[in-house]
Amino acid sequence: MENFNVGIDCEDIDRWHNMLSKLESGAQHKLFTEAEHLYCKSFKNPEAHYAARWCAKEALLKALYPFCKVDLRQIEIANDKEGKPFFVISDPQVAKLNLAIRVSLSHSKKTAMAIVVVAVGPDAQNSII
Ligand SMILES: CC(C)(COP(=O)(O)OP(=O)(O)OC[C@H]1O[C@@H](n2cnc3c(N)ncnc32)[C@H](O)[C@@H]1OP(=O)(O)O)[C@@H](O)C(=O)NCCC(=O)NCCS
Repeated sequence: MENFNVGIDCEDIDRWHNMLSKLESGAQHKLFTEAEHLYCKSFKNPEAHYAARWCAKEALLKALYPFCKVDLRQIEIANDKEGKPFFVISDPQVAKLNLAIRVSLSHSKKTAMAIVVVAVGPDAQNSII
């Protein structure tokens, strides 16, 4: 029997516009992995893609609370060859759990958002597509 939870988050993209220089080389650089930096900077509006990824990380925290804590620096959002996002989790505390996690991102001109669905249980991987 699987258990499910969800998390959601949204961000004002303007806030991320002001953070771009800190993200590229400053104190905030480690909020994202090198692969995420490369991905976001490949767009002409990188702040929208950074904001959506931050939303996904916050939404994951919500979906996993209070089941387990996550070190956000060990969480990456990657995209498959069709553009569909997915989590790459190197936090060993989370990786060892039998979790299936799905994420969806969206960004308009002003707002980025993400929703995360988590399933836990012996057959979690087969319980959500
Ligand atoms: C997914 C899609 C509906 C995006 O819609 P949109 O309204 O233009 O954009 P949104 O802001 O709502 O969503 C963008 C996010 O959708 C996600 N996305 C892209 N392709 C996706 C897909 N095939 N499945 C699920 N999510 C996808 C990405 O996370 C993207 O954000 P990111 O680049 O920061 O990771 C559109 O790209 C689409 O129809 N894709 C179909 C698959 C496709 O055509 N792939 C072409 C490459 S092979």
